[in-house]
Parts: sequence; structure tokens; C-alpha cells
Amino acid sequence: MKALLLVLLTELCLGSLFPEKEKSPQYWRDQAQQTLRNALKLQKLNTNVAKNIIMFLGDGMGISTVTAARILKGQLQHMQGEETMLEMDRFPYVALSKTYNTDAQVPDSAGTATAYLCGVKANEGTVGVSAAVTRDQCNTTAGNEVTSILKWSKEAGKSVGIVTTTRVNHATPSAAYAHSANRDWYSDNEMPPEAIQQGCKDIAQQLFENIPNIEVIMGGGRKYMFPKNTTDVEYQTEDKYRGTRLDGKTLISVWKEKKPKDKSAHYVWNRQDLMALNLDKVDFLLGLFEPVDLMYELDRNNQTDPSLTEMVEVAIKILQKNPKGFFLLVEGGRIDHGHHEGKAKQALHETVEMDRAIGLAGRLTTENNTLTVVTADHSHVFTFGGYTQRGNSIFGLAPMQSDVDKKPFTSILYGNGPGYKLIGGGRENVSTVDFADANYQAQSAVPLRQETHGGEDVAVFAKGPMAHLLHGVHEQNYIPHVMAYAACVGPNTNHCRSGAPRGTGVALPLLSTFASLFILLCLF
Ligand SMILES: *[C@@H]1O[C@H](CO)[C@@H](O)[C@H](O)[C@H]1NC(C)=O
Ligand SMILES: *[C@@H]1O[C@H](CO)[C@@H](O)[C@H](O)[C@H]1NC(C)=O
Ligand SMILES: *[C@@H]1O[C@H](CO)[C@@H](O)[C@H](O)[C@H]1NC(C)=O
Ligand SMILES: *[C@@H]1O[C@H](CO)[C@@H](O)[C@H](O)[C@H]1NC(C)=O
Ligand SMILES: *[C@@H]1O[C@H](CO)[C@@H](O)[C@H](O)[C@H]1NC(C)=O
Ligand SMILES: [Zn+2]
Repeated sequence: MKALLLVLLTELCLGSLFPEKEKSPQYWRDQAQQTLRNALKLQKLNTNVAKNIIMFLGDGMGISTVTAARILKGQLQHMQGEETMLEMDRFPYVALSKTYNTDAQVPDSAGTATAYLCGVKANEGTVGVSAAVTRDQCNTTAGNEVTSILKWSKEAGKSVGIVTTTRVNHATPSAAYAHSANRDWYSDNEMPPEAIQQGCKDIAQQLFENIPNIEVIMGGGRKYMFPKNTTDVEYQTEDKYRGTRLDGKTLISVWKEKKPKDKSAHYVWNRQDLMALNLDKVDFLLGLFEPVDLMYELDRNNQTDPSLTEMVEVAIKILQKNPKGFFLLVEGGRIDHGHHEGKAKQALHETVEMDRAIGLAGRLTTENNTLTVVTADHSHVFTFGGYTQRGNSIFGLAPMQSDVDKKPFTSILYGNGPGYKLIGGGRENVSTVDFADANYQAQSAVPLRQETHGGEDVAVFAKGPMAHLLHGVHEQNYIPHVMAYAACVGPNTNHCRSGAPRGTGVALPLLSTFASLFILLCLF
């Protein structure tokens, strides 16, 4: 009733569903001309060397999720929403990324992470290994490991960091440092005995062994770092959050012991301790804020747990101290979880929070020397439609009823998932439930306990040095090749001889062609 009144009042005041200025053709022409002037400025390419690389990965952040999050962001600021610009919308370059895994048309987060971090497409369920590795088969791993842009950056002397809202040993971050035939081998407790016998190591252990001096690691996953049955520091009465490790190791101590003695290494497990750090004096930071994944942003306790934006701010301030620059991977990891649960509101608030972190990162860095890439690993079968009016709540109803079952429907729907429900043999009448609730599960066409990923391309937004190389429809594994080229890390650095102007990567082959021609001419 209140909402209805508000809509009526708004309509009375504005006289329409949209701002009066939008009735003027001049408004749209001016807006487009300004966009055009901005686009013309792009003729001068940014070919600087990228000192820093920041990669934002929205897990499951398909294009429909980006659009819906944009509308939500605007509506949270009491706008209609459609006209709002996300931080990622301001990036000058956008490409599409083909997300399939070598063995899957609709991919998972492990094979895709291997593609956009290591530059090699891989099988579903595997991280940091090529497609020669069979999922679950430890003994196919050896010799088939592939390394990531995080490792290449570290080897080039940059500081490196991982920030995620999932556990730090989850699929996305793990492809940055681990090589595993199974993404679920979080600790040795989750591994089959034969995999351990064959010499495979759990992902938590690899986090501290493979690239021992990662400067910043923040996220969840505490329980995988402590011996089996160790009580969790925050949830002392919850058995499910006790330590899991069968090898009896406390990986927090292993982490600390490996740090150079003249450097300061801080482990924190709550927001207060994180915020109390003097970042000028922190060389290494390990922050594990939950036993498994972090809370959804909507459910977060802002006293005990940092937001993704807060973690990104801390990470950049630590990493920025390195004069050689940094590589930072930031994952909005629970967009995916919201969708799997059919809880679109959770997924979209996670997306808005990641966008806020993108804005903050932009303010802490400059496009002159920082390449920022925002993308997703894969999409979801999430959609919104139904001819909703301008400014309709993104969580609202379509302005019509089904002409078949005569019931209303929400704009947001899933192709499959847990929101499928029959009441008296028919579709539920959504007007009888609170479809704006944070945990409302939108209706789906097919019942599934977990809604699935979607197979269409995802967007890649880029700004900064060499961002223009992300310009078309690309295979997902192309992305780290661009980031590495821009930053002069990894194997392809012929264009990076110190002091040489950029672009010699093109000029040198041309020169040598001319030289060969000249030699040929001389011979004849
Ligand atoms: C690899 O291990 C699997 C069991 O995980 C076994 O069935 C297979 O024979 C092994 N292959 C080789 C070449 O050792
Ligand atoms: C686990 O810890 C609890 C409480 O500290 C203790 O009572 C129990 O015996 C332990 N179980 C195992 C298997 O070690
Ligand atoms: C934490 O949440 C409370 C209640 O929503 C709010 O009043 C407070 O400002 C928040 N504090 C911080 C530090 O964000
Ligand atoms: C970025 O580079 C441009 C052109 O070289 C320069 O005018 C500008 O001041 C630089 N901005 C920053 C923040 O360094
Ligand atoms: C759906 O529920 C609303 C609210 O209770 C009710 O007004 C409407 O008649 C119902 N529609 C159908 C088709 O049952
Ligand atoms: Zn998923």
C-alpha cells in the first residue's frame, strides 16, 4: 500500500514514469554527443607499461546480472535505475569472453579460472593444470601444471595479492597459485587417500608452499588451516566449523614461519584487528574472516567482518608500497552462490558491492599506470523481463499476468533452480509471498536444488595501459596474455626492453622483415 502511494505520488509530481528532461530530444543528443567526444579521445591509445594490474572477477556475473545490478544500484540511490552507471560501465573498452571449458559447453569456475589466470583452457573441476589432466585423477597432474599471471608478476618483482569473499582456497583464487586435479581438495581431509598417496597436495597447503611470499591474502577458509577438530576462534560451539586438517598442521604458523625475519607478517581474523593495522608497517597480511566463505553482504556483521571494498582498500595500500608495482586478484565470489540458491537479491547486492570496490580501486590508482580488468568466469540462467515499466523495482512484478494461468509473475526468473514450486498442482501465486525478501527464491522452469551456470559469453571491461587489446569476441584464456603483455611480465616481453618506446613489439618484426628483404635483394 505504502509502495503504491509512493508510485502514485511520484507519478503526480513527475507527471510520468521518467524525468521530464528525457522528453527533450536535445537531452539525448547532448548525452550522445558527450559520449562521442569521450570516444574520440580514445584515438590516443594508452600504450604505457602497466605498473599495476587489478583483476576483478565477479563469479557468475553474467551480463543479465550486470544490468540488473546497475538498476539495483540506482534504485538504492532512489533513482529509477536504468540510467545509472556502474563503475564498470565507465570503463572505455568492453569485450566478450567465450567461457566454455575444454570438456564442457557450460563451464565451471575451476576450468575458467585456469583460463583467465593461467592463459590455458582446461577441464571442468581442475585448477592450474592443462586439459591433459583428468578431473579427480591425481596421477595425471605431474608435468601438466600451468602457472598464473600472479606467479609471473611475482617473478617480475611485483607484490601480489588475493582478495575474495569465498574461502581463499576456492576455485577462483586457487588457480592463481595451486595445481590440482580437483577443485574440492580444500584440505587433505577432502582428498581421497590414493590422491595423497600419489603425492598430490591439498589446495590450502599449496597456498603457502607454491608461491610462499604472496603479500596479501584475504577471504574465508579458516577451518582448512587448522588441525582436525580444532575449535574455531569465532564459532566456538559449532562443530561444523572445527579444523579439518588430517596432517595436524596449523597453516597460519607455517605461513608466518616462512616470512623473512626482517619483515612484518600479520594474521587477522576479524574486522577490528584488520582496521587497527598500521598498513605502512605491514609487509605481509593473511586475513581469514570466516571458517568457510564470508557472509553475504546483506547479512554481514559490519563489526566482525570487512566488506569487499574494505578488503580491497587495505590490499591496495599494502601492495602499492612496492615501487615495481603489483598484481591484485579480487573476487566477488558469492554472486555465484546467490544465484545457485535462486536468491537473486543476494546475488545482486554482492554485485553492487563488488562495483563499489571497483570504484574505490579506481580512486586509489591511475589509468596511466594501472590496467584494470573486470570480468566474470561464467554466467547463470538468470533473467529479467516481462515489459516492466521504467523504474519498476528490479525485484518487482511484471505489469501483467500470465495469460495462461492468470497469475502474476516477477520480472526476475531462473531457467532452473530451487525456486520451482507447485501449489495445488499449479504455479505459486507470487502475490501471496514476499518476493522482495533477501532470501526469496525466484521461480524457475525446472526444479533443481542448485540453479546452474549459463553458457553464453560474459563481458570483459578494461581500462588502463593496453586495455584496447580487449576489443572483440575473445577466448577467455586470452585475458591474462593481454594483462601480462601490458605489464611486461610472463614469457612474452620482447617489446619491453628498458628504455625502448612501446610499439617496438610491432616495429621489430617489421624491421627484420625489411632487413631480410634487403639481404635477399643484395643476394640477387
Ligand atoms: C591413476 O590412478 C587411478 C586411481 O586414481 C588408477 O585407476 C590408474 O590406474 C592410475 N594410472 C596410472 C597410470 O598410474
Ligand atoms: C574434539 O574436541 C572435543 C572438544 O574439545 C573433544 O571433546 C573430542 O573428544 C574431540 N574429538 C576428537 C575425535 O578428537
Ligand atoms: C554497521 O551497521 C549499522 C546498522 O546497519 C550501521 O548503523 C553502522 O553505521 C554500520 N557501521 C559501519 C562501520 O559500517
Ligand atoms: C596521466 O598521464 C597524462 C598524460 O601523460 C598526464 O597529463 C596526467 O597528469 C597523468 N595523470 C596522473 C594521475 O599521473
Ligand atoms: C493472487 O494473489 C492475490 C493476492 O492474494 C489475489 O488478489 C489474486 O486474486 C491471486 N490470483 C490468482 C490467480 O489466484
Ligand atoms: Zn557456481
